[in-house]
Amino acid sequence: MDYRKLMAQAEEAKRNSYSPYSGFRVGAALVTSEGKVFTGTNVESASYGATICAERTAVVKAVSEGYREFEAIAVSSDAEEGSFPCGICRQFLAEFGLGIKIVTGKKTGEIRVHTVAELLPFAFTEEDMCQE
Ligand code: THU
Repeated sequence: MDYRKLMAQAEEAKRNSYSPYSGFRVGAALVTSEGKVFTGTNVESASYGATICAERTAVVKAVSEGYREFEAIAVSSDAEEGSFPCGICRQFLAEFGLGIKIVTGKKTGEIRVHTVAELLPFAFTEEDMCQE
């Protein structure tokens, strides 16, 4: 997988960010195991807590179109150091695999790749509910 290309798709998606309250634009590009890409942006609300992040938008779009196996998600923001998915998004991604790669990038163009497991240690998953 070309992570730079995926990051470019996340950057492109960021242009549609609806973020009138924070002014913080985020774009995400999620690639399925068969190579289909779903993008997403953050969508804010006057009722702030109703805001949805870019990463979850991309996951919701994919899952609602019948895709559940993902290889990687790239996240683009305007922050100098790039930004990592928030806690809720990490948990949301974990639902579909601790092995999903999270691709982030600094303004310098440096790309970083981590798994969901790395960013969400001791993750709470379905298995935790099945223990005696
Ligand atoms: N945001 C995301 O879209 N993804 C994240 O992982 C972190 C935060 C959005 C939510 C809100 O619209 C803005 O960034 C500021 O928190």
